[in-house]
Order: sequence, then structure tokens, then C-alpha cells
Amino acid sequence: MDKAMGKADNDFDWAAMADMLELEGETHSPYVRQAFEELSHLTPRRILDIGSGPGVAACRLAGMFPQAEVTAVDGEPELLARAGERAGRLGVRLRTRVAEFPEGLAGLGTADLVWSGQVVHHVGDQQGALHRLAGLLEPGGVLAIVEGGLPARWLPRDLGFGRPGLQARLDAAMADRFDRMRAELPGTVSVVEDWPGMLRAAGLTEVRSKTFLVDHPAPLEEGPRRSVRRQLERNRKVVGELLDAEDVATLDRLLDPADPACVDERPDLFLLTAKTVHFARRPEHA
Ligand SMILES: C[S@@+](CC[C@H](N)C(=O)[O-])C[C@H]1O[C@@H](n2cnc3c(N)ncnc32)[C@H](O)[C@@H]1O
Repeated sequence: MDKAMGKADNDFDWAAMADMLELEGETHSPYVRQAFEELSHLTPRRILDIGSGPGVAACRLAGMFPQAEVTAVDGEPELLARAGERAGRLGVRLRTRVAEFPEGLAGLGTADLVWSGQVVHHVGDQQGALHRLAGLLEPGGVLAIVEGGLPARWLPRDLGFGRPGLQARLDAAMADRFDRMRAELPGTVSVVEDWPGMLRAAGLTEVRSKTFLVDHPAPLEEGPRRSVRRQLERNRKVVGELLDAEDVATLDRLLDPADPACVDERPDLFLLTAKTVHFARRPEHA
């Protein structure tokens, strides 16, 4: 069991989360599409997606830069198998490579563009991780990481049953759990999470951050609706113990397929979130 990936904590059995990660990747694709527009002037020969998971973003990069060699890198072979299948379905050229972040990055070679979505915060030493990612860049190469943004919102404040404001209490419980996850990572280092400052400290320049909206209004289509169900099931599992009995009962009603007020039926469910992408460049002459 590899503690570096947090696999010792069953909450982060990434392979078991494959369906949820792929659905979430698809549901979040509006932000990835907008973020990639910021990269459309580039002509990369080699692209790495570090912590690609099931490859939703990596396949989009492969479609956008068909002449580039695009490699999806992840610590989980099962997720990379999904990425490979996805690439086959979409007819894009994608390589996959199993590697642990950050130790396994050394063997990957360099790239003109490195993308890493929602992965650095799973590494104990985040500043060290950014140094490693910066080290993958060719001179003039671009790094883009997704960190920060806003938690997703799915539920009306008043659901018509239970205590209003469940979503805000779920957010607070998930934030607590996130703190615990970070505290338990091996080699964890406290750092002011000033992502632009940390990218500069990693020797990169032209640092800028941009936030993109994911906005699926009510009533939700099938894909985003299934994604919300998966997220709520996960919340129930990982922070159920931090909620009071009334909130747990409300969550159970939302998740009960036999209940007409459940998330599969509700016309008022929506999905609204914002993701921040931090872009930076390795100087030509470092
Ligand atoms: C939250 S998911 C993000 C997936 C995808 N990048 C996205 O934005 O949807 C985190 C991914 O990073 C991978 N991961 C986490 N820690 C890792 C590590 N130390 N080494 C390699 N991969 C890791 C997990 O297997 C998972 O696929």
C-alpha cells in the first residue's frame, strides 16, 4: 500500500472512484474547454497530464493538439486503462504511463506543456511537487495546474424537508476532512497556499490565474445528475459521521431511489462550481 498517494486511507481508493472521476471530468468539461482555449496559441510537441485519472482532460488535449505526443500519467493503472479506452472511443492518440507523483516523474522526460488537475493538493510537500512539475518543462514550456476555486453547489437551500442549509454544512464537513487528509499525508509540509507565489518560487514566470465557471442549471441532464448522485453518495460515506442525525436523514432521503424527493427525480437540482487554473512558463534562459 502506497501511503504517498493516500491509498492507506480507503476514502482515496482512486481506482474504486473511477466512475465518479470520469463522470465528474465530463460534467466539468466546460471549465477544461475554456482553460484549454487559453493554451490554443501553443504548438506543443510533447504534453504530459500528471494525475490524469480516467483521462477526460488528456483526451481533450490529444484532440486539440493531434500532432503532439500526449501522455496521461497516473499512479493507478486501472484509471489509465480507462483513459486508454476513452482515447480509443474518441479516436485520439494518447499514451499512458504509470508513475507516482512526485518520485516517479524523473523518468518521464520533458514536455512543452504540462497539465495537472486537482492533484498537487494530494501530495504532502506541495511546493516540492511544484518544483518537480516545473522540472518537467522544456525552456519556454507552460505548466497549468488546477487548484482552488469554489466548492460545487447542487442543492436548493431549502429542500422542503430537513433543516435548510444542508449544502453549506456539507461543505464545512468536507473542508474538515480535507484538512485531516492533508495532515495525514506522509511528509506533509504546511505552506501558505498562494499558488501563484508558489509557482514563482518554483522558478516559473508569466504566472497568471483564471477562474472558469461550470454552470449546469436546473433541471439537470442525465450526466450531471448522475455525477451529483455520486458526489452525494461519497459525501454521505466520508463525512456522514460529522453531520447531525437530521442531516444524515435528509441525505438518506435524497439518496433513496424510492423517495420521490430523491436526487434522481428532483427538478430543482443544479450544478454550479468554479475552478481556478494557474498558468506559468519556464523562462527560455533559466
Ligand atoms: C482528484 S483526481 C483528478 C483527476 C483529473 N486530473 C481531474 O482533474 O479530473 C486525482 C488523480 O491523481 C492521482 N494521484 C493522486 N495522488 C497521486 C500520486 N501521488 N501519484 C500519482 N497519481 C496520483 C489519482 O490516482 C487520481 O487519478
